[in-house]
Formats: sequence, C-alpha cells, structure tokens
Amino acid sequence: AKKLILDVDCGVDDAQAIMMALAVPDVQILGITCVQGNTSVDNICKNTLRVLKVCQRMEISVFRGASEPLLGGSLSSEGFHGKDGLGDAPDPMAPGLELVQKEGAVAAMTRIVSEHPGEVSLVATGPLTNLALAARIDPTFPQKLKGLYIMGGNTESRGNTTVCAEFNFASDPEAAYIVLNSYKCPTYIATWEFTCRNKLPWGFCDGWLSQDSEKARFMKKIFKHSMDVSYNERYQKEMVDGMGFMSCDSYAVAAAIDESFMTESDHIAVTVELTGTHTRGMMVLDTLDVLQNKHKVHIMKKVDLEMFKRMLMNALK
Ligand code: BDR
Ligand code: CA
Repeated sequence: AKKLILDVDCGVDDAQAIMMALAVPDVQILGITCVQGNTSVDNICKNTLRVLKVCQRMEISVFRGASEPLLGGSLSSEGFHGKDGLGDAPDPMAPGLELVQKEGAVAAMTRIVSEHPGEVSLVATGPLTNLALAARIDPTFPQKLKGLYIMGGNTESRGNTTVCAEFNFASDPEAAYIVLNSYKCPTYIATWEFTCRNKLPWGFCDGWLSQDSEKARFMKKIFKHSMDVSYNERYQKEMVDGMGFMSCDSYAVAAAIDESFMTESDHIAVTVELTGTHTRGMMVLDTLDVLQNKHKVHIMKKVDLEMFKRMLMNALK
C-alpha cells in the first residue's frame, strides 16, 4: 500500500482531497496533520474529524499543528470557505476536539516518517508551517520522505490572495521558503495557475454531487457556500483561463496516489519572495539557474483529467 500523511487546512477542497485519498483501497493514511490557514487550527481539526466521520474512517489519527504562521498574522479565507471553513453548514452531531490526538502534528509527522524511512509521501494542502517546523526540529525528516506533494505557489506571479501570491504561500511565506529550500526529496507542486488551467466543467460537478450517497450529500452541503462564490461570473473572470469547477488541493493528492496522473511537468529550482511590497509570498522560478540550487522540483503542467474525474467520482461513492 502507498503510505501517505496529509497535512491540511481543511477547507472545502481539502475535504475533497482527503475524501479522494480515503477512497483508494491501496492507500494507507498514516495520519492527518492540521494547520491554521483557511480558518483557525481548532476549526481545521474539527473539519477533518467531520470528513473522517462521514467516510466512516475515524480510526485515522488527527493531529493539531501550528495555530499561527511563523511570522505575521493569519490570513483566512472565510469569505470563500465559510466562517467554519466548511461552508457554514454545521452538523450538531459532529465529533469534538477531544478526539484529536494528544501528540502534536510536528512530533507525529517526524515520528511516523522515521518509523517508515523512505516509504511515506507527504501531501501538503495548506500553509507549510508544520513542514517548516518539522525540518527545523528534525533536519533528517525531509530526506526520509519518499515524496512531497504541495498545492501552492504560482508560476506567473498571479495571486489569488495578494497581487502576486497564492493563498497557501501568502499565508506563511517563510515556511514556504524553508520547505522549498530544505526539502530535497522528490517534490511535485500543483500551482495556482496550473489548477486554474485544469478546471473541470460545471456539468461534471453537478453529476458528481448528485450521486446517491451520504458522502455526496455531505459534499453538496459544505460546497454550497463556495460554489455560490465560484459560480459568480466576476470571480471566474478574474481567474486564469475561463470558467469551471476547481478542486485545487485534490490535484496534489491525485499525483501522490498515482504516478501516471501527471503527464507533463517542468523540472526547475524554485524559491519564495519574502520581502517585496506586492510580491511577498510569490513563488520564484529560477529558469536561468542563477541561484545554483541543485534541487529541482516538478511543477505540474499536464495531468490526466479523465483519471482525475474518476478519482473524484470515487471519492463520493
Ligand atoms: C488553496 O488555498 C486554500 O483556500 C485552498 O484550500 C487551497 O489549498 C488555493 O490557493
Ligand atoms: Ca487547503
């Protein structure tokens, strides 16, 4: 089985990504670590537990991680994902925080990976704070990973949060910098522009949500708030390449689940801008190899969208 740790800031697309991973029989999720991002870390832990409950997978451990970025205040994306991060469609029977593990997220991820050196892939779909802390606490951690899959950053300085920065990198630029400069394991990045260019038709989304299952009914409920925002024409025009349904975080999970998902990528060294007035948090591509960074990452360019659709369909079956 493929061993994964998911590091999430469980908003709606993180929920979709988690459900995608849960639905694959030969994927073993060794733990889900939570980080503040779309909303507070407590909400993130609760949202993750809610997703696990709907999928009847409460045996998977949930760990609480960073409640603040390394520097500066938290951003949030409550306008998009809802105040609770899952579309403000609360469930009175939702599991409580007492079910979160006592062990912290950073301790858990470094421990789990040292128990299975070279076997675990890490999928990060929120700000990279926990990953940066893990590398600082255990510098051998990154090299023990089989692979790292990130949703975040950008390739053409188009932001979705600031002028030039994507939300996960804008939320904790220093953490993104530390990760991109100290993780030398095979690294795959689903950037903002990539996800915008690989939208699915809204018609697919309608069929996806109308499957007759508890999971589909749950998704329809938590997705309504952000769908109302994304169906909004003005919002969609501001995005790259026209209208459509996006599940940003799911691309990172799909790549981790199946090597054949990514069909084309750029192999290039990247870093993160930390000081610009408009560019702080922007991912920088070192096309000319000026920085002489030996570690090159894979920036996803083309993926198998039919496979993506199948994986999404299975997630809600
Ligand atoms: C990313 O930001 C978050 O709101 C989403 O969950 C995704 O991880 C997209 O920029
Ligand atoms: Ca996310």
